[in-house]
Amino acid sequence: MNMPNNFRLASRMGEIAPFHVLEILDRARRLEAEGRSIIHMEIGEPDFETPPPVLAAAQRALAERSMHYAPALGLPELREAIAGFYRSRYGVRVDPSRVVVTSGSSGALLLALGVLIDPGSRLLLADPGYPANRHFVRVLEGVPVGIPVDEQSRYQLSATSIAAHWDERTVGALIATPSNPTGTLISHEALEAIHAQVTSRGGTLLVDEIYHGLTYGAQVRTALEIGDDVLVVNSFSKYFNMTGWRIGWLVAPPGMVEAIERLAQNLFLSVSTPAQYAALAAFSDDTLDLLEARRRIMRERRDYLVPELRRLGFDIPVEPEGAFYVYANCSALCADSFEFCSRLLDEAGVAITPGVDFGHHRGREHVRFAYTTSVERLREAVGRIEAFLRLG
Ligand SMILES: Cc1ncc(COP(=O)(O)O)c(C=O)c1O
Repeated sequence: MNMPNNFRLASRMGEIAPFHVLEILDRARRLEAEGRSIIHMEIGEPDFETPPPVLAAAQRALAERSMHYAPALGLPELREAIAGFYRSRYGVRVDPSRVVVTSGSSGALLLALGVLIDPGSRLLLADPGYPANRHFVRVLEGVPVGIPVDEQSRYQLSATSIAAHWDERTVGALIATPSNPTGTLISHEALEAIHAQVTSRGGTLLVDEIYHGLTYGAQVRTALEIGDDVLVVNSFSKYFNMTGWRIGWLVAPPGMVEAIERLAQNLFLSVSTPAQYAALAAFSDDTLDLLEARRRIMRERRDYLVPELRRLGFDIPVEPEGAFYVYANCSALCADSFEFCSRLLDEAGVAITPGVDFGHHRGREHVRFAYTTSVERLREAVGRIEAFLRLG
């Protein structure tokens, strides 16, 4: 029996859009259950399993350790290990007291924004960008300001675009490098210019480095080099292949950690204790060797896919240098990318994500391909897309 709906949702819920990609995934799985062969290029997580040393560390901890609440800022040894990773990988000294272990970078973003956003505060973001960010800001009663970005700025914000959109209610800017959905990087110099612009106006710069490690060119520098007033978000999800463990981190300015700790205590108490013990093994030599081999596999996939998509008529004006995404303009091939994705799934069994998932700017002209599947499957997908386009 259906109960009458006598609840009323908060008005903000009218502005929290679902991830279209999850609807696509749902539909793809339904088609698979009916026996259809589907190639998944919509999924924003690596297809690799958790590295074995991480699994072994988790199993050991479950057998030997107490699994009570951990401290709200994270296990001290994990905070030290994360600080140590900045030293070994980037040559940057970070005091472990500035490292906050979080529930994925999602938890890190919520904590960072939670201590910065007042009702009505504006935060500047790239459009297209990772869709949850604008919703985090909205949940906190702030105003997400999506700044349209194009190939001219490698789909990244610039000091100039930030200056043009800044007003007295703006509290900061958030950059993701490499970006989701475009896979493009911002140069260290451009990031320094943004930092100067933002801080000269009394604002805060947040940098989401969740796809660090998954870059296929020059060695990438961390925004932590720029100054200890930058908030950096990262995660064990993508490079470390640990999406389901729900663990990440935030590096915060020294004076902000106490406020973040209070918020973390109240919102989460602590991050999953077994996940923290597992993550301790993520920086071991064995794990890092495996992750570097997996990075090379990701690169091979990108190197296969990008020229093939261009051959099929997709426009990819900026070479994606990181993450595992290709953001392609499909306007030469279809009138509406949403409908295109829908038909491609139904008729060709290839699941990709429509650009509208990532913002309002030219979403209907773009699609995102995730190369989170093998080159053999990518080859099959390219064949299917080619046949689909031929039939019109
Ligand atoms: C740019 C970006 N930031 C943050 C996240 C959140 O990831 P997690 O909470 O698993 O660390 C994602 C996930 O896709 C992302 O693409």
